[in-house]
Amino acid sequence: MTPLPVFVLLSLVCFCISDDRLTTAKPLNARDKLVSSGGVFALGFFTPANSTADTYIGIWYNKVPQPTYVWVANRDNPIKNGSPGKLVMSSNSDLVLSDSQGRTLWTTTNNFTSATTGTAAILFDSGNLVIQLPNGKHIWQSFDYPTDTALPDMVLPLSTNDGILRRLVAWKGPDDPATSDYSMGADSSSDLQVVIWNGTRPYWRSSPWDGSLVSALYQSITGFIVTETIVDRGGELYMTFTVSEGSPSMRMMLDYKGTFKFLAWNSNSSSWEAFIEHPSPICERYAYCGPFGYCDAAEPVPKCNCLSGFEPDGVNFSRGCRRKEDLKCGKDNNFSTLRGMKTPDKFLYVRNRSFDQCTEECRRSCSCSAYAYADLKNGSRAADQSRCLIWLGELVDTGKFRDGGGENLYLRLASSTVDNESNVLKTILPIVAILLILTSICLVWICKSRGKRRIKEIKNKHTRQHLQNSKLNELENESIDLPYICFEDIVTATDNFSDYKLLGKGGFGKVYKGLLGGGGKEVAVKRLSKSSGQGADEFRNEVVLIAKLQHRNLVRLLGYCTHEDEKLLIYEYLPNKSLDAFLFDATRNFVLDWLTRFKVIKGIARGLLYLHQDSRIFGGNEQQANTIRIVGTYGYMSPEYAMEGSFSVKSDTYSFGVLLLEIVSGLKISSAHFMTDFTNLVAYAWSLWKDGNARELVHSSIVENCPLHEVLRCIHIGLLCVQDNPNARPLMSSTVFMLENETVPLPTPKEPLYFRRRYDEVEDQRDTMGITLNKMTITMQEGR
Ligand SMILES: *[C@@H]1O[C@H](CO)[C@@H](O)[C@H](O)[C@H]1NC(C)=O
Ligand SMILES: *[C@@H]1O[C@H](CO)[C@@H](O)[C@H](O)[C@H]1NC(C)=O
Ligand SMILES: *[C@@H]1O[C@H](CO)[C@@H](O)[C@H](O)[C@H]1NC(C)=O
Ligand SMILES: *[C@@H]1O[C@H](CO)[C@@H](O)[C@H](O)[C@H]1NC(C)=O
Ligand SMILES: *[C@@H]1O[C@H](CO)[C@@H](O)[C@H](O)[C@H]1NC(C)=O
Ligand SMILES: *[C@@H]1O[C@H](CO)[C@@H](O)[C@H](O)[C@H]1NC(C)=O
Ligand SMILES: *[C@@H]1O[C@H](CO)[C@@H](O)[C@H](O)[C@H]1NC(C)=O
Ligand SMILES: *[C@@H]1O[C@H](CO)[C@@H](O)[C@H](O)[C@H]1NC(C)=O
Repeated sequence: MTPLPVFVLLSLVCFCISDDRLTTAKPLNARDKLVSSGGVFALGFFTPANSTADTYIGIWYNKVPQPTYVWVANRDNPIKNGSPGKLVMSSNSDLVLSDSQGRTLWTTTNNFTSATTGTAAILFDSGNLVIQLPNGKHIWQSFDYPTDTALPDMVLPLSTNDGILRRLVAWKGPDDPATSDYSMGADSSSDLQVVIWNGTRPYWRSSPWDGSLVSALYQSITGFIVTETIVDRGGELYMTFTVSEGSPSMRMMLDYKGTFKFLAWNSNSSSWEAFIEHPSPICERYAYCGPFGYCDAAEPVPKCNCLSGFEPDGVNFSRGCRRKEDLKCGKDNNFSTLRGMKTPDKFLYVRNRSFDQCTEECRRSCSCSAYAYADLKNGSRAADQSRCLIWLGELVDTGKFRDGGGENLYLRLASSTVDNESNVLKTILPIVAILLILTSICLVWICKSRGKRRIKEIKNKHTRQHLQNSKLNELENESIDLPYICFEDIVTATDNFSDYKLLGKGGFGKVYKGLLGGGGKEVAVKRLSKSSGQGADEFRNEVVLIAKLQHRNLVRLLGYCTHEDEKLLIYEYLPNKSLDAFLFDATRNFVLDWLTRFKVIKGIARGLLYLHQDSRIFGGNEQQANTIRIVGTYGYMSPEYAMEGSFSVKSDTYSFGVLLLEIVSGLKISSAHFMTDFTNLVAYAWSLWKDGNARELVHSSIVENCPLHEVLRCIHIGLLCVQDNPNARPLMSSTVFMLENETVPLPTPKEPLYFRRRYDEVEDQRDTMGITLNKMTITMQEGR
């Protein structure tokens, strides 16, 4: 056996420190490592397997034979080309990593200026690297800056007072520690749930926290118990996990494919074994089962099912489920209790409600589809006593747990759907009997009267032919002169509703472009979706209302059509598409200079004023109406309208305010821009305005060349319009007046607080025909 040359031995022995600490006097060189006092973790330079020559500073398990890095300092700034790096403790108590040319690649930023000899960076057996002052105080710890891994006893902030949310961010590849698009942390719009993000899109979501201190208890394959808990430190919420005594090494991490894993080291098989994975491969991915569908983990093999009272909408769950029986606002519906559920996403968090108040909150809002309630009195949160969650409209990303977990979801259904079977029989049998009798009577009557009716029908053919729905007969009484356009013509005009004719999709249905008749007139055809909930009543209202309104700032309705259960509206086609297309398209928004934008704002304001005043639709300025169904585009709906279905002219003022802010900023109400700090544009605008920074809201393409006072005045007016309290919002008449008279003094707006909700789907619901405001479609033509 050849003896090793002495210098190799020397280099192995002498130049390697394997102490647990790094001090000013003792930096860490390329081949050194720190080892925690119990030998559990090591810190040093490493080059990932299969990687190029990139080198990183990281922490790994010292005793686990398979290299497993739990923390990387310079993940996006590696030391290149194998040049030797150096990690030193600077004189102001910061750790600084530099390469051989002396370039700083990574540093902590304690900015601790006083002279501090005796400061050390210590690696603990927990895997935490801590900078400790001579007096024992910890001024920095790696646990506050996690990469993709959480270790036992490490606390992950869910909500903090400083507003900084820290997330686990996955590696880019199996051998590439760089930050990837997958991250995991608290949902920025509500600290109640944890989400895995793929970029800005949710990929998996935990169920919302229900106040329990222990949020999960797992038993690993080998019998060790893992406890996931929520801790409160002075109003800040953290998530942490602990493992039972004598457990093998355990870690929680987000892998490079975006999968969250709980892993335990199995020394027998010498490998990491995952005992929890999210999303599970079957149906746990975010919103996988579509609206009103849910991932049922109580089945032997998890699969998508429809919530009770719903049936699949199509062959698979790509479109989710639809109601078996439509909801009608009023008293004829009831709540069905679903147990053991992972409650859906996109809730409104209503604070300080009792269970009964929460039920009432949902019952009285026509658009409320479900609610859930949790008592937080024993929870760690002092501020909130209860957690009332309300869902408006679609329920997405719902699940059912396998064993015992989850909470009750109270789902709103038409009463007859809620009834149990025996009730169904009791109700249905008499109905069937009565129907049979009625049918026989009708048959006899029809046979008798057939002769007479025939003659009448022929007479009325031209006017009556298309009015198949009895409700639509009332159109005649309204004596409006609106042409009926026959279905076949529309099919031809839109090439049988082909996709390439599609202009956009909105809350009400799809909008197609078409060429009508021999003259080749360009029209926009709005095909109301069958599931839109717009029944004959609404259709009639829309037709009558819109036909009555002729204003230069409104899209003109040219005709309408009904055919079996199809309902179609034919509008004039606006070749400039809608405002959206210009406002939110980076390549086109420069087209809109301030002058144009201001004209558009004033034009919309005048259009609304016309609706409110000149056409006298509402009968009086502030008259409140309780609408039967909530219609409109989420994000533009005022709080009182969305929650209670009560709308007044002030609801339009709200929508106008939102639109104004969008036009000035070029940002959508739901823009991803707000993911981190603000719930939406309204909150963002208010926060800037409050601090005197409203200029930052103004879109970059106009900010240089615009009269700033005019723009700032606009933002101010916008904020007056979006106040929570409808009475505080100005009438459209005042709004127009304020917009047109620069000298009118403006009151100070109150902070809009009501909506605490993500507006992700607004984009899908946005009606590209224009902005649907309480049954009236408004779109800009160029400001004439
Ligand atoms: C390195 O690459 C080889 C072949 O591409 C693969 O078999 C091996 O598992 C990789 N090693 C690691 C640690 O990923
Ligand atoms: C430390 O100072 C730098 C530059 O002076 C600054 O950018 C950084 O925000 C400071 N960090 C802290 C934690 O104060
Ligand atoms: C993440 O998003 C990207 C693009 O946005 C997509 O290509 C990819 O498939 C997504 N990943 C998963 C796991 O869905
Ligand atoms: C390893 O094997 C031993 C003996 O077969 C067994 O008692 C122990 O539970 C195993 N440990 C793990 C982690 O599987
Ligand atoms: C669901 O069905 C639609 C059409 O019916 C199809 O385009 C889609 O690929 C299907 N999705 C899955 C996951 O099978
Ligand atoms: C709703 O259900 C509850 C309990 O099942 C019942 O007591 C109540 O009468 C029902 N309400 C209506 C309006 O059907
Ligand atoms: C909660 O509501 C009750 C009445 O329902 C009220 O007395 C109390 O002041 C409210 N608490 C908070 C913190 O708003
Ligand atoms: C709250 O704690 C008290 C005693 O600590 C207990 O009796 C009660 O059942 C708990 N309530 C809930 C909702 O957990």
